[in-house]
Amino acid sequence: KDQPEGTKLITMVNKLQDAFTRVGMVNLDMPQIAVVGCQSSGKSSVLESVVGRDFLPRGSGIVTRRPLVLQLIRDSSLSSEYGQFLHKGERKYFDFKEIEDEIVRDTDRITGKNKGLSPIPINLKLFSPSVVNLTMIDLPGVTKIAVGDQPENIEEQINDMVLNYISRPNCIILAVTPANTDLANSDSLKLAKQVDPKRSRTVGVLTKLDLMDEGTDAVDILEGRILDLKFIGVVNRSQKDLLNNKDVRSALNAEQQFFQSHPKYMHMAHVMGSKYLAKVLNSKLISHIKSSLPAMADSTAKELKSSRKKLKKLGGGDNLKKKEIAFKALSGFTEEFKNMIDGNSKDANSREG
Ligand code: GDP
Ligand code: NA
Ligand code: MG
Repeated sequence: KDQPEGTKLITMVNKLQDAFTRVGMVNLDMPQIAVVGCQSSGKSSVLESVVGRDFLPRGSGIVTRRPLVLQLIRDSSLSSEYGQFLHKGERKYFDFKEIEDEIVRDTDRITGKNKGLSPIPINLKLFSPSVVNLTMIDLPGVTKIAVGDQPENIEEQINDMVLNYISRPNCIILAVTPANTDLANSDSLKLAKQVDPKRSRTVGVLTKLDLMDEGTDAVDILEGRILDLKFIGVVNRSQKDLLNNKDVRSALNAEQQFFQSHPKYMHMAHVMGSKYLAKVLNSKLISHIKSSLPAMADSTAKELKSSRKKLKKLGGGDNLKKKEIAFKALSGFTEEFKNMIDGNSKDANSREG
């Protein structure tokens, strides 16, 4: 089978999400994966490894200064991958360096060039034959000290931005923590605990395993004996690798090599690394969506109804015409969505019977 389980389901959710964005409704509780962690813990690097392409600005200091909402869309008929920005209309970006440049440009456009922050997200879609369908959000790093144009209450601002995403019950929290720092003091793990005390939707990722002091290892942490959370270990590219333009594919191979040849990690190599992380995320997302389908269909139908009423009151106009078209699409999706839920429950019944 060419498509992984749940692909149709996630495609549908992505379509719905687009339709809602187009008509300016964002309060629908869609399943997503948010990447949280302190500054330079490797959040953007982890996200790139999961995607398997280079397209994100990374580096020391505060590089990610607006949320990036990234939709990965699997299309096995494509011969070349491309990206599309919501703020750039239909334009297709086949050059991933241009995607990175546009993220930098649009970040600066909204926040200024001097390390300012903004909660206004950048929306990017990546179409590819080789991704699993996921929506991921790259967030600015949790930090305490203001630099450049940042306000005094930077910590509060970033925490609010992070909480805005991770407090949604439908959000899977990818908590990224570097292995070469003190885990107990991790602010992001504390934030995650605040909104998900049972850790039922938190996935722990331990980065920088290659930077641990010689003679020390993270086996106890990885296996969940230190915190109330198991971690998936990863090794991303170092700053030097980035400067040397080491590409993501050779980095993934090197990562696999690291785990398979490390005396302390070789026994768990099959549950380590970025590829395994991508699989875990996909299956988490699917079970999450399945359990929240009925509620989602419900709120979609409600939104649609109340928006139709508003539209009627407002009357004609060009902008409204556009909205009407979007609503039409939306109601089509809602129908399709309901059918899918029916199909799902039938599937479940027939499996039982
Ligand atoms: P973010 O600020 O959390 O998004 O972190 P970035 O992904 O931008 O990474 C910050 C810096 O840490 C970059 O220079 C990366 O090359 C480096 N880095 C990230 N993960 C690892 C890792 O697993 N090992 C090593 N050696 N360096 C890493
Ligand atoms: Na950084
Ligand atoms: Mg980043």
